[in-house]
Amino acid sequence: MLPKISITDRTQELENLVLVVSSLKALPNGVFTASEMSFIRRQHKELKKDIISYNRLENWTYVYVIKEEKSEYKRLEASRKAGKKVGEMLNSQKAAKVVVFDHDNHPAETLAFAEGMALGNYQFLKYKADKEKKNTLRKIEIYSETVNDELVGSQQSAVGSHFMNIVNDAVFQCRDLINEPASYLTATVFSKEVEKLGKECGAKVEVMNKKKLEVLQMGGILGVNQGSHEPPTFTVMEWKPADAVNKKPIVFVGKGIVFDSGGMNLKPGDSMLNMKDDMSGAAAAAMAVYAIAKAELPVYVVGLMPATDNRPGTKAIVPGDVLKMHNGMTVEVLNTDAEGRLILADALSYARKYKPELVIDMATLTGAAVRAIGKFACAGMESGAPEELLELTESGFKTSERIVELPMWEEYGELIKSEVADLKNIGPGDAGTITAGKFLEKFTDYPYIHLDIAGPAFLDKADSYRGIGGTGFGVRLLFDYVLKRIIKE
Ligand code: BES
Ligand code: ZN
Ligand code: ZN
Repeated sequence: MLPKISITDRTQELENLVLVVSSLKALPNGVFTASEMSFIRRQHKELKKDIISYNRLENWTYVYVIKEEKSEYKRLEASRKAGKKVGEMLNSQKAAKVVVFDHDNHPAETLAFAEGMALGNYQFLKYKADKEKKNTLRKIEIYSETVNDELVGSQQSAVGSHFMNIVNDAVFQCRDLINEPASYLTATVFSKEVEKLGKECGAKVEVMNKKKLEVLQMGGILGVNQGSHEPPTFTVMEWKPADAVNKKPIVFVGKGIVFDSGGMNLKPGDSMLNMKDDMSGAAAAAMAVYAIAKAELPVYVVGLMPATDNRPGTKAIVPGDVLKMHNGMTVEVLNTDAEGRLILADALSYARKYKPELVIDMATLTGAAVRAIGKFACAGMESGAPEELLELTESGFKTSERIVELPMWEEYGELIKSEVADLKNIGPGDAGTITAGKFLEKFTDYPYIHLDIAGPAFLDKADSYRGIGGTGFGVRLLFDYVLKRIIKE
């Protein structure tokens, strides 16, 4: 369960307490006895611990000494990770509540600490009978002179507790969607979930069914869906507040392959194992719109989520097939496992009707991106949006949902020209992430950023507050990006 972060104006005796300090010199007088102080000093100096804990009967006190890092980004991430660690210790004590005391005025680090603690509390227990291991932490109170429930400061600092709760909740729900197996989360169920979310946050949701996609001649989505027993959907989520600072929307497009078997080019061996995660982009796009709407940010945003599974049914597309896409272009399918770009191509063509100021897509698109960058960042490419990608990259460092840029040079586009159609859906093997990006670019005519999140979207092994399974990568990144827009205006 998501622990709620709130602001308190007092600390009490006899409760779990975390003191966030930049050095031990800053520890308050009177709180610790002389022997406690010497214990804390020894733990920090000799044993090099930056989290020191001790208990007084029922309650625990933790001292977190903020790591000295030159960059603010690293300090924030170290604080999130420390928060996760302390959260784990509190859960092992079956604690429900903790007060985090921003002792010497480090609001951003204190909030990051609370954020890591909250995000690290995630569990996916829906299918477990044994709920014994359920985390107990429910409430994180921040005691601070500067942190409040609204925005803190401007650019450099973090969001206040109100926005943080909204975004954390969106991340949890994003992880839930990703972790749901395909047996439950079909394209239709995904759309229904987004409809529910829309009602909750005030965003308008429209679900286009198979018939509608046929009318729109979305050959990419329909083609990938041919091998499935489940119909495809295309969900549109719109947040258009009356006081929006932008007339043209920022559009988020997310790859919604609810399961990727590879289709007729069936994935071999273990490579199919985590393919329920192939809708992580769609989940992140929906949850980013949800968070922005819940926070009532005055920014016009739209989410476009094409969804289907990719299966080798008898009607499935086969290598050599040619599909006619929504924008009229034709694509020769040389590998049915390169399906993400086929459904995204239709969604990106469809995005043109919004005359968007910017389109950002998120997709678990290529294994090549995982091999190149691993789990610690996504690959980013831009077309006509260099400034926007810089801004987004900065948000990436701030939220630790990082972006590594790859080029979109002309030459790579040559590699996906087909002999029989306008394009083919795979390149020669090298630079697979870039040729996939180039393929998508062909369906855009607006400022465009492509994020290949195949690496960071899903983890086999926990990485601190990003546990096993879906991470929710993209939600915090996009929220921060959109928030920066309005702070700057
Ligand atoms: N969904 C996969 C990409 C993927 C791989 C995501 C590993 C997460 C982890 C995508 O649809 C795919 O299968 N891509 C192929 C493309 C190839 C056939 C050109 C790939 O990367 O092997
Ligand atoms: Zn695939
Ligand atoms: Zn895929």
